[in-house]
Parts: sequence; structure tokens; C-alpha cells
Amino acid sequence: MPKTIYILNGPNLNLLGTREPKIYGAATLDDIETACASKCKAAGYDMFFHQSNIEGEIVDQIQEAGREGVALLINAAAYTHTSVAIYDALKTLDIPIIEVHISQPASRESFRQQSFIAPVATGSISGFGTNSYLLAINAAIESLQ
Ligand code: DQA
Repeated sequence: MPKTIYILNGPNLNLLGTREPKIYGAATLDDIETACASKCKAAGYDMFFHQSNIEGEIVDQIQEAGREGVALLINAAAYTHTSVAIYDALKTLDIPIIEVHISQPASRESFRQQSFIAPVATGSISGFGTNSYLLAINAAIESLQ
């Protein structure tokens, strides 16, 4: 059985590299995917990595992670702060869920202070730039041991 870590990315993260580089840095989503793939591979895991701007598509992929994955990393981007649908989908999972953010939402605008992901996540990693993803893979793998 392949052990697959799902890494799901929400709206506007397809623009990384050019989107507000002072906040999100210079790396593209492809760069992040490549780094995550080699980290997962080195640890003996398969990876499913996807980005969507569409809330329902992310819900579908969370449900798929529940059927096919051993752990889920999710950077729900702006849906972090708005989506009851994503909260409900995450609540159905029985695998480690790591909330990931490139920036540190707690130090930004007040509307970013609420997370619909945090209450249903195993843990959250924010503020380490794109390295947040690699730290989150470590956290997911350690949760599985
Ligand atoms: C983000 C933080 C969110 O508040 C924001 O809406 C994003 C990116 C991050 O990775 O820092 O789109 O999730």
C-alpha cells in the first residue's frame, strides 16, 4: 500500500513568486512542490500535491485524503478564515492534519486572526516562509510514528 501525504493549497497560492513577495517570498508553488516531493520521497512517502481556487474542489480533495491518504497538510489560504465547508470536511478525517501558512496570520490583519482549520488540525505551522511546508511534513511524519 503506498503511504500518501496529501498537500492541498487554496486560492491565490498559484500566484506565489509574484504575489506580494515581501510577505510570501520569491518561491513559486512549483518550487514548493519540488521541495516537498523530495522530502516525502526521502522519508519513504508518496505525495499528492494540488492547488485550487475553488472551495468545493478543496472539499472533494479533503474527502479523497480521508480515503487515500495517511496525513494531510493544508494551506487553505483565504478559506482558512471563512470556510465552514472546509472545517466540516476536515472534521470527518481520522488522519493527522497539519495547518500550514507561509506568513504568520496572527501578526497580520484582524480578519486573519480566526482560523476554521486550527480547531480541527493536529497542529499548525505558520510564519517560516515556504519552509513551513517542510516543517509540516516533518510534523506529519512524526505524528505517524
Ligand atoms: C496564507 C495566509 C492567509 O491569510 C492568506 O489568505 C493566504 C496565504 C499563508 O500561507 O500565509 O492566501 O495562508
